[in-house]
Amino acid sequence: MNAQLKKITEAAVTPENVYLNRRQYLKAMALSLGAASMPGAAVQASDDLAQEDAAPLWMKQHLAAPIASRYSTKDAMTPYEYVTGYNNFYEFGTDKSDPKEYGQDFEPHPWSVTVSGAAEKTGTFGLEDVLKGLSIEERIYRLRCVEAWSMVIPWLGVPLSSMLKRYRPLSSAKFVVFETVYRPEQMPGQRAFFNAIDYPYIEVLRMDEAMHPLTLMAVGVYGRSLPNQNGAPLRLVVPWKYGFKSIKSIQKISFVDQRPKTTWERANPREYGFYANVNPNVSHPRWSQAQERRLPGSLFSANRIPTMIFNGYAEEVAGLYQGLDLSVHY
Ligand code: MTE
Repeated sequence: MNAQLKKITEAAVTPENVYLNRRQYLKAMALSLGAASMPGAAVQASDDLAQEDAAPLWMKQHLAAPIASRYSTKDAMTPYEYVTGYNNFYEFGTDKSDPKEYGQDFEPHPWSVTVSGAAEKTGTFGLEDVLKGLSIEERIYRLRCVEAWSMVIPWLGVPLSSMLKRYRPLSSAKFVVFETVYRPEQMPGQRAFFNAIDYPYIEVLRMDEAMHPLTLMAVGVYGRSLPNQNGAPLRLVVPWKYGFKSIKSIQKISFVDQRPKTTWERANPREYGFYANVNPNVSHPRWSQAQERRLPGSLFSANRIPTMIFNGYAEEVAGLYQGLDLSVHY
């Protein structure tokens, strides 16, 4: 199966690439199923992909012809079933299967985003308006969770910089703050009696990190709109940082001059730093970060691979942190 998927990935990064639409993904998956006689779960996955995308028509149209990106990795993609069935989204529960199981009542449409703080244009904008005129790209990125597992995910989205520029941030804006929607009636984790973290979930990027060309605002995955468990309808993807920086279901964006604490810094600053750059040389206090489990593993092999500094994106981003001691600013 991996060989098949690899072929797809390579095709996706060639300049003359014609975008792999949903039908092509399905065909590729079916081929790989036939070739490697996959277990039942994978059959289920292609069933999920075959289902009609529930997003509104304007969004389906907007996602229909994405541009391939030179930033896409050639690593084999993680199958859809893992990307959408093994998730961290504490608002829906803390088990990996909870977001898919308990996220189905969440309503990502209609959606609006409130932009505030140090920018010329602030206010509340409908999602269609937020995305209007911005070209959708497919970016196949590695995602490395701080828990030492990883995936390779074909996102659809827009460079965050192109979205933020619309609001004309002022020179006093030094950081961008992102906030997940607070909807306890649709998010069982937010109304739980005991919570590991405070809600709403908050993440922060330095302005130069936010404007970096690799930073993506994702609106889709595998050729279709984001499922709820992956952060519908709008989530951040910062591929050189641990996954917890990639905040989901964003409803507020604010430009500020002082850095507020992020959700995970507040929960446990010793374990989760502000920068959260993927770094095999700086251990988490409770485990090493030198290796990761690239999903899917199998019964016989956890598929452990060495973790790369900045998750393999050092060439693009190392310059952002020149002169910074990464073991202090983890
Ligand atoms: N965003 C919110 N709002 N709540 C969360 O619990 N989990 C983070 C991040 N974004 C999380 C979140 C973590 S720890 C990871 S690894 C990624 O989402 C996982 O993204 P995925 O489930 O799409 O793979």
